[in-house]
Amino acid sequence: MGVLKTTVLLLTVLLGSGCAWLFRETEPGPGGRFADYPEEQRSAAALTQARCTRCHEFDRVFEAMSFAGDRADIEFLVEEMADRKGSGISQRDEKQIVDFLDYYRLREQAGPSKVR
Ligand code: HEC
Repeated sequence: MGVLKTTVLLLTVLLGSGCAWLFRETEPGPGGRFADYPEEQRSAAALTQARCTRCHEFDRVFEAMSFAGDRADIEFLVEEMADRKGSGISQRDEKQIVDFLDYYRLREQAGPSKVR
């Protein structure tokens, strides 16, 4: 293989991975955190991020997830937040947010890569 060909190949690979990295960074969730989640959960993650960062950091939500024992705990939390003045969280949002957070909880509890 000629030097030029090798250089072009190398550049293509480098640019390719650079793009993949950039793309990951723009996925819903901090740093492409949910990049390997199913499509439905990824859009719910984006909604959750949009709704739950109005008043505080997104990480605050996930810090609490380790204390969530079941879905009802999450429902309670999301409802409490939605009920806050000016939360901008509709009942429809609530359902999607609870679905996503409960999915997140189950995945975390199962350990990485067990629940798909
Ligand atoms: C209208 C503002 C607002 C929105 C929107 C909001 N929160 Fe909060 N959240 C707060 C405030 C204020 C606190 C701090 C409460 C306290 O310390 O007494 C808080 C605290 C929390 C806590 C810490 C535990 C607790 O109960 O104090 C968690 C977890 C949390 N929010 C999750 C969420 C989630 C999930 C969403 C999206 C569904 C959300 N928040 C949206 C205002 C909001």
